[in-house]
Amino acid sequence: MEKYYLTTAIDYVNGAPHIGHAYEKILTDIIARHYSQRCDDVYFLTGTDEHGIKIQKTAAAKDITPKELCDENSRKFKDAWKALDIDYTKFIRTTDDYHEKAVQHIFKKLVEKGDIYKHSYEGLYCTGCECFLNPKDLTEDGLCPTHLKKPEVVSEENYFFKLTKYKDAIVKHIKEHPDFILPQFRANEVLNQLEDIQDISVSRSKSNVQWGIDVLDDSEQSIYVWIDALSNYVTAIGYDTENQSDDFKKYWPADVHVIGKDILKFHSIYWPAFLLALDLPLPKHIFAHGWITIDESKMSKSLGNVISPTSVMENFNMENADAFRYYMATSAPCGRDGNYSDDDFKEKVNAHLANSMGNLLNRTLSMLVKYFDGEVKSEFKGDNPLAKKALNTISIVKNHFDNFEISEAGFEIISLVDSTNKYVQDTAPWTLAKEGKMSECGKVLTNVLDIMCIIASLIYPYCPNIARSMASQLSFNINTKLDDLTSDSIKVGKLIEKENIKPVFLRLDSELADKSAKK
Ligand code: ME8
Ligand code: MG
Repeated sequence: MEKYYLTTAIDYVNGAPHIGHAYEKILTDIIARHYSQRCDDVYFLTGTDEHGIKIQKTAAAKDITPKELCDENSRKFKDAWKALDIDYTKFIRTTDDYHEKAVQHIFKKLVEKGDIYKHSYEGLYCTGCECFLNPKDLTEDGLCPTHLKKPEVVSEENYFFKLTKYKDAIVKHIKEHPDFILPQFRANEVLNQLEDIQDISVSRSKSNVQWGIDVLDDSEQSIYVWIDALSNYVTAIGYDTENQSDDFKKYWPADVHVIGKDILKFHSIYWPAFLLALDLPLPKHIFAHGWITIDESKMSKSLGNVISPTSVMENFNMENADAFRYYMATSAPCGRDGNYSDDDFKEKVNAHLANSMGNLLNRTLSMLVKYFDGEVKSEFKGDNPLAKKALNTISIVKNHFDNFEISEAGFEIISLVDSTNKYVQDTAPWTLAKEGKMSECGKVLTNVLDIMCIIASLIYPYCPNIARSMASQLSFNINTKLDDLTSDSIKVGKLIEKENIKPVFLRLDSELADKSAKK
């Protein structure tokens, strides 16, 4: 694998980030970190989507300019991603100068090609979706199914893109590439939508939408958000119609666009059509994740249940985001909806990260210090009954990642932790020590520590801070590539002093944690 280029959706900046936005960025960061363990050149793009009627209206209501609103909120997204250890390569804002210019050129090229034409139109526009809706997709009461709001009747002369021209090519591509849309159960949905696809409006009249990129040579029209937004995936790495940067040549096509299920149509129908029209190759995968609910209900401003990712960290007084990242990443099977609840969060991370994984390392190192003064003797090294399962787990995890099964991969890692705990329970090294079987006892501890190196490496994408702390206590290089991992990483000699043994994850302090501790 020479390079891996992955992107998130770019978020609308009409509000602050919530844990749904965070979910996607965490998944993508985990995928990026995983592939950085398999490849030297990972490029991770994220950013904010800043044009359109929604932002224009929110700014007007706050009596500030759209650009002021964008600056204020884009900053909040950046700050949140920093707090969550989202280690992106680049953050694009669609108000960036280079992006605006490139989008104007893309639009112009499509006009010149005859794929964009002018057309009078009356349609139902949903501001929440920033798109025209098909009447047959509305609810019984005539509302947008996603935002449950009545769409506006808009009658305008717009530019239209000849989506119908590319329909057959896209159907063929989806059918010939079963892993283009993942998880695969979503592909049928897209094929159904393609059946009655029509040409789409790609501009709005300036009289209604001022906050947008101008169409070159037509000051009456602004480019409507989806051509603008989707193009970020190529403009960010230096694409312009006239000039393609070295980065673009190196990284395009993207390996995966990570997006939410609500914007799958734009990514698996519109975007491929624009790319085909530009004679560019299509991305390898589009991975649509599900939605996060709060206490099983939809997050919404009107319900007042919107949770910001940083507030979760503050409420639980967390030093870093590892536990939250782990919880979010494992909150739903691949592509399905997940749920956040405070109680479930505490219970799960206390059980998995503190009780199972953290304690295992802590107990094992403590015994090594108690019985052997922290030293691994050469006679302790040898056959490790856990090796087969551990090495097998590495390939299972890699396979899961190739299908973006982040939660499934996470549970595989915890299952390796559980097996290792069971091995300690079954072999009872404390009993071996009591019976004077020191060599056997040392072997058990060393076997466990060798497996802990693999566990640290596999958990790293989810919990980078915990993994670094584990690796440091094991004198293990956390930057080891997955293909170089062995079940024999622990070096013979003095491993650790008593005072350097530290819990890698402290239980989240709570009534619930107390209760389960007493059980
Ligand atoms: O759609 N759970 O922006 P956006 C999980 N600008 N994911 C969620 C979520 C939730 N509760 N709420 C939102 C846009 N998301 C466009 C994208 S891409 C070229 C342009 C996800 O701010 C949503 O599915 O409405 C999307 O992938 C991302 O957050 C941004 O949503
Ligand atoms: Mg949205």
